[in-house]
Amino acid sequence: MTRPSNDSFLRALLKEPTAYTPVWLMRQAGRYLPEYCETRKRAGSFLQLCKNPALACEVTLQPLARYDLDAAILFSDILTIPDAMGLGLYFTDGEGPRFERPLREEWAIRDLTAPDPWDHLRYVMDAVAEIRRALHNSVPLIGFAGSPYTLACYMVEGASSSDYRCIKGMLYERPDLLHRILSVTADAVTAYLNAQIESGAQAVMIFDSWGGSLSAAAYEEFSLQYMQRIVGNLLRERGGERVPSIVFTKGGGLWLEAIADIGCDAVGLDWTIDIGEARRRVGDRVALQGNIDPAVLFASPEKVAAEARRVLESYGAGQNTGHVFNLGHGISQFTPPENVTALVEEVHAHSVLLRTRSE
Ligand code: CP3
Repeated sequence: MTRPSNDSFLRALLKEPTAYTPVWLMRQAGRYLPEYCETRKRAGSFLQLCKNPALACEVTLQPLARYDLDAAILFSDILTIPDAMGLGLYFTDGEGPRFERPLREEWAIRDLTAPDPWDHLRYVMDAVAEIRRALHNSVPLIGFAGSPYTLACYMVEGASSSDYRCIKGMLYERPDLLHRILSVTADAVTAYLNAQIESGAQAVMIFDSWGGSLSAAAYEEFSLQYMQRIVGNLLRERGGERVPSIVFTKGGGLWLEAIADIGCDAVGLDWTIDIGEARRRVGDRVALQGNIDPAVLFASPEKVAAEARRVLESYGAGQNTGHVFNLGHGISQFTPPENVTALVEEVHAHSVLLRTRSE
């Protein structure tokens, strides 16, 4: 397999030099794009969109048609795994994801098994293969999954939560039950990500959206440990090319060094930490991905560009590798699409300028 013609994203993750700083955006295909809303309407619902490989491929490519992005990300959701485990995923407008059968009973937890990705999640593998064909090796395709702890939050709470009452109650009262859920889910995530790699994903990312709600000790025991197990069991190479991994714990800034030590190639940063400070803390161990505040996209294009320059300069002038530019969290559905143009253009232009300045 040959690298894509634009391989700046893979190069930055592997800490090879790049001509400019590559950029992609978490949730780059989403409701802020009118063409996404149109395709979603045709699909009938968000879940039907995820489960239809041709339409999932269509929306994956939409942001790349509009913007000069350096990577594509599979259009799917982290909750496909618990859905395939039989928990009955559905979405209600305005309330986000819900499960018909949340995981609360000891017998149900004992019965939980990891789904075979080639069977129950075949539609995801078909989407990965179809997107790769449609990309014609132009930019790399990112595969992804949720972290075991983040998936467990939804599985146990049955929906988004503001206080994590059920899962944290279980964590302190019956840690053995939570460990059983996390262990099965870690096996499921490993098999799922490896199947995505075999289907053509050229990098993979683990989204740990709720690990940051844990105490330091609980984070280590209930989130980080399982991500380490996954990263250690991922396919490192496919067709002679390295397949880099990115780990993103939202709110994980306090534990950066520990995250950088689990064997991943890159650490994703939310917007609360200064990326230059993050870099000084992790040194050369990993690449960094992030971390502009997604809320800056509600300001004018000029403010967006200025904030992009600030993040690039904070990472470090004269440093031509190891940084993948991204938002610190997913793009809001209320983002004006033209502000994304300003962001992507400024990241490319200003990062070239910083490189020439340091020569
Ligand atoms: O980045 C991408 O463009 C790839 C697609 C992607 C989606 N969800 C599509 C999506 C990815 C990587 C995710 C990850 C995801 N899903 C996470 C981790 C990242 C994070 O945001 O912390 C989480 C926690 C979920 C679970 C989930 N899915 C929630 C909480 C919601 C509701 C959000 C909302 O704004 O209503 C979803 C739905 C979802 N996933 C949408 C998209 C584009 C919006 C669905 C729609 O069209 O109605």
